[in-house]
Amino acid sequence: MSTIVFLGGGRITSAMLAGLSLAQTKHRFVVHDRNPGKLRALSKRYAVAVEPDPKRAVHQAEVLIVAVRPSSVAELLHSVGKPNRPLLAVSLAAGVPLRMLARMLGSPVRWARAMPSPVCRSGRGLTAVTFPRALSPRDRRRVIDFFAILGQVIEIPESKFDAFTVTYSCSHGYHALAALAKAGQAAGLDRRVALVASAHALADGIITWREGKHSLESLLEEAATPGGIAATTMAAMDAAGYRKAVGKGVLAGLRRARASSRQ
Ligand SMILES: NC(=O)c1ccc[n+]([C@@H]2O[C@H](COP(=O)([O-])OP(=O)(O)OC[C@H]3O[C@@H](n4cnc5c(N)ncnc54)[C@H](OP(=O)(O)O)[C@@H]3O)[C@@H](O)[C@H]2O)c1
Repeated sequence: MSTIVFLGGGRITSAMLAGLSLAQTKHRFVVHDRNPGKLRALSKRYAVAVEPDPKRAVHQAEVLIVAVRPSSVAELLHSVGKPNRPLLAVSLAAGVPLRMLARMLGSPVRWARAMPSPVCRSGRGLTAVTFPRALSPRDRRRVIDFFAILGQVIEIPESKFDAFTVTYSCSHGYHALAALAKAGQAAGLDRRVALVASAHALADGIITWREGKHSLESLLEEAATPGGIAATTMAAMDAAGYRKAVGKGVLAGLRRARASSRQ
């Protein structure tokens, strides 16, 4: 059992705590946030200790999770100051590279980065992790094992982290669900049926692909008879710029992530 301290008690911390509660892990969790109201709400909802003082929070940590927005990382780490013992810290901040984290708070802190998804609240998370070359296998294992409680973990090079962050967001699914359901409603369905139909189209089809028995190409071929309704719908979407819109969206997200590393 380890004491895991979250600095920042916002959206992703709340989703992770929900997933961790579901998994009934034996770790002890402490959350620090500058908003007393958020700390009260978290301690009501989850089995966590809360600590309004950042230094005292860090003092308890065996593993530190930095979960504030990218623009708040410097200020937060400044308020924490250098701990007087070695400490493994994992930053969730999108676009803030390891070299910058080490510059803001260096040795004896050892940094890793992780990019979890709020879907981890259901235990079906996906987390990318990345490590500096010097990080020991033991520290790497600790980080991977911790995020594995919340779902799948993949290790990727830091140079791919921003592209992963932009691509894997569950917001894409919700966004597509909202757009498809709205189109279904415009075609005459009521909202509830439009949402159920759209969720089936997006989620259940994709789960079938994830089971790994069939290629994406063969599933697409099965679902869309040439010249039929699905093929006509897809062709019209592509002609209207569907793939272009997705590509442009991903590039805009990538530019936004890269801007964080220059701040
Ligand atoms: N949300 C996601 O789906 C997701 C997924 C993966 C990674 N992340 C990363 O996780 C980080 C947090 O995202 P989030 O969506 O959870 O943000 P959030 O909801 O804004 O939560 C951050 C919390 O930290 C607090 N905070 C900020 N600066 C602080 C400081 N100096 N001292 C103490 N508390 C401070 C904020 O308080 P205020 O409200 O007063 O600012 C807020 O309560 C981001 O860097 C993001 O890139 C998020």
